[in-house]
Amino acid sequence: MTTAMVTGATAGIGAEFARQLAARGHDLVLVARDTARLESAATQLRTYGVQVEVLPADLADDEGCARVEWRCGEGVDVLVNNAGLGGKGAFHKVSREDEEHLLRLNVRAVLRLTHAALPPMVARGSGSIVNVSSVAGFAPGARAATYSASKAWVTNFSESLHLQYADRGVRVLALCPGFTRTEFHSRAGMDTSGIPDRMWLQAPDVVRTALGDLDAGKSLSVPGAQYKAIVAATRLVPPSVQRRIVRGLMGRMPGRRG
Ligand SMILES: NC(=O)c1ccc[n+]([C@@H]2O[C@H](COP(=O)([O-])OP(=O)(O)OC[C@H]3O[C@@H](n4cnc5c(N)ncnc54)[C@H](OP(=O)(O)O)[C@@H]3O)[C@@H](O)[C@H]2O)c1
Repeated sequence: MTTAMVTGATAGIGAEFARQLAARGHDLVLVARDTARLESAATQLRTYGVQVEVLPADLADDEGCARVEWRCGEGVDVLVNNAGLGGKGAFHKVSREDEEHLLRLNVRAVLRLTHAALPPMVARGSGSIVNVSSVAGFAPGARAATYSASKAWVTNFSESLHLQYADRGVRVLALCPGFTRTEFHSRAGMDTSGIPDRMWLQAPDVVRTALGDLDAGKSLSVPGAQYKAIVAATRLVPPSVQRRIVRGLMGRMPGRRG
C-alpha cells in the first residue's frame, strides 16, 4: 500500500483529494487543526478499505509544522500541500500579523513539508508532491497582494522542483484553481455574490483534473477551460497591459463583508 498525506483534508479541495486518493487505494494521513472534523473524515474514508491516520496540527505554528514534518520524513508516497488561506483585504488595512500568518501557512509550511518529504522520495526514486496554488499567482493581485504573491511563490517553487526532480522519479505538480466552491471565501470574509456562475469550479472536478495531470507527468494543472484561457492570456499579454486589466477589474471585483 502507498501512503498519501493531505493537509487541509477536512474541507473543500483537501477533503476531495482525500476521497479520490482513498478511492485509488492509498492509505491516508490527514492534517488539519480541528480534531473532531479529522476523526469524522477518517471514519468516512475508512469505508474505502484504506488505513487512515489523523494528525491534528496548526501548520502556521512552529511546533505543529514540526510534528507534520517529522511524519513526512518517516516517508509518504504522495504529499498534497493543500492547506491555505485567503487574504483579508487591502494591504494597508490588514495587520502585519495576519499577513505573516498567511505566509507561514501558504508558503513556509509548503517549503518545510516538501523539504521533509523529498529526501525519502529521492532515495526511493519515486513519489509525488501536489502543491495547491492558485490562478491568482499568475498576475498582480487585484485585492490581496500577499495572497497572490504567496501563490506565485508556490507555482514557481513547484515548477522548479518538477524540473529538478522529474528525472529522479519524483513528480511535482502546481495545481492552480480559480474560484472553487469551498469554505475558503467565507473564512476570508469575502463577498462572492458578484462572481458569475460560469467562473465557479467544483472541488471534485478540480481534483480529478489535478490527479490526471499528475499521472500525465505535467508540472502545472489549471482546471477549467475558462481558467486555461485566462492563464494563456496572462502569458501572452505584456505586464504593463496586465496591470491595466487588473486595475479595470478592481472596480468590478467582489468586495469584503463588513
Ligand atoms: N476555493 C477557492 O476558490 C480556491 C481557489 C484557488 C486556490 N485555492 C487554494 O486551495 C487550497 C484549499 O482551499 P479550500 O478552498 O479547499 O479551503 P477550505 O475549504 O477553507 O479548507 C481549508 C482546509 O485547510 C485547513 N486549514 C486551515 N488553516 C490551517 C492551518 N493553519 N493548519 C492546518 N490546516 C489548516 C482547514 O481545516 P481546519 O480549519 O480544521 O484547520 C481545512 O481543512 C488553499 O491553498 C487555497 O489557497 C482555493
